[in-house]
Amino acid sequence: MDKIIIEGGKRLSGTIPISGAKNAALTLIPCALLTDEPLTLRNLPRLADIDGFQHLMNQFGVTTAIQGSRPEDFGRVMTLEATRITGTVAPYDLVRKMRASILVLGPMLARMGEATVSLPGGCAIGNRPIDLHLKALEAFGAQIELAQGYVRAHAPDGGLPGGEFDFPVVSVGATENALMAAVLANGTCRLRNAAREPEIVDLCNLLVAMGAEIEGIGSSELTVHGVKRLHGATYRVMADRIEAGSYACAAAITGGEVYLDGARADEMEATLHALRNIGVTYDADKKGVRIAAEGPLKATNLSTAPYPGLATDMQAQLMALLTVAEGTSVLTETIFENRYMHVPELARMGADIETSGRTAIVKGVPKLHGAEVMATDLRASMSLVIAGLAAEGQTQVRRLYHLDRGYERLEEKLALVGAQVERVGDD
Ligand code: UD1
Repeated sequence: MDKIIIEGGKRLSGTIPISGAKNAALTLIPCALLTDEPLTLRNLPRLADIDGFQHLMNQFGVTTAIQGSRPEDFGRVMTLEATRITGTVAPYDLVRKMRASILVLGPMLARMGEATVSLPGGCAIGNRPIDLHLKALEAFGAQIELAQGYVRAHAPDGGLPGGEFDFPVVSVGATENALMAAVLANGTCRLRNAAREPEIVDLCNLLVAMGAEIEGIGSSELTVHGVKRLHGATYRVMADRIEAGSYACAAAITGGEVYLDGARADEMEATLHALRNIGVTYDADKKGVRIAAEGPLKATNLSTAPYPGLATDMQAQLMALLTVAEGTSVLTETIFENRYMHVPELARMGADIETSGRTAIVKGVPKLHGAEVMATDLRASMSLVIAGLAAEGQTQVRRLYHLDRGYERLEEKLALVGAQVERVGDD
């Protein structure tokens, strides 16, 4: 297995191109199931999860063609065509590897009147149920059965009648599944307390480009008037706000200055606000965001929350930054339990962090030192890379498959701004 070796202490400076958003791409791809016409997605990141999702779509008889596969290309263009769907089952083996496969449930049900998807099973960042996905679909008139580890959803003859669902907890994935099911319903579907992450807005914008009728885009109340059919579209995936935020933390921890080319400040306000409280300055223009860390880093208190609050997907990276800030910071993780797996690894690099339930108390230390580390999820792995960039000496980050799921060409992008990073095969 590969590992990344980082020689810490290099100040980052220059421009980092920001890729298309993984989490947006993972909900835009299954939209191909909603039409028999071609769907072309531009600016798709080159990531293992995208390849996995493409494979899943092929299992359903969807043809996929990719342009921009040259190694030097950032971003790819994929055309998906679901002229004839030949299967409606997402098997355990694929869903187990990629939790986002659950996002085929809504669109497959809408198009075919039935869908069978394996239950995703355990997940490294806590128990992640799908009850809200199922309840929302039931509220729109689907019949749901659970048997042998699979969810089987059926729509009455002629399609989903429509209905209303009020989310007790904000869920990004359940909102996405419900939206993709609703667009072809016979009646009107209404969602209250829906997620309003920028990735949901991206999904809504694509659905509208395909002919869907959606009111309330960007708000927590979404009303979908079902239409008889959707058509094809060409659509550009939004920039990855979490990737951008991660590189902002990477630059800041080295006292550096980087331009995040393609990042959208309005989609990452909570992260930028947190960075400003830590003493990092930023400046946005139409094309990107410039981050500069000139003065000392200061402690701050942070709590994750659904959008527009601070993304849980930024918690680990900001924590890495706070390990070397002056003073004591208190972090609260409100979205997922068990999302502090990076803490013991950061501690091995010299960080002073104490956790109690959902709270982490980070006492800033003057320096981190390099170590061999590994993490069990994507953002936790990135937090170790960030720590390694500032640490004295060498850091080796193992289990790169997590990083490869979410960061397109991580080491290349870091090298562009002067980091000393190298990917090597493990022995
Ligand atoms: C998505 C993102 C993930 C991000 C998360 C929160 C993708 C592919 N993944 O995950 O990177 O960290 O949003 O911003 O876009 N919940 C239930 N029942 C459900 C669904 C969720 O109780 O049926 C709970 C979860 O356990 C969690 C909370 O709701 O506590 C939020 O989860 P959710 O927004 O659904 O996360 P995902 O869509 O899985």
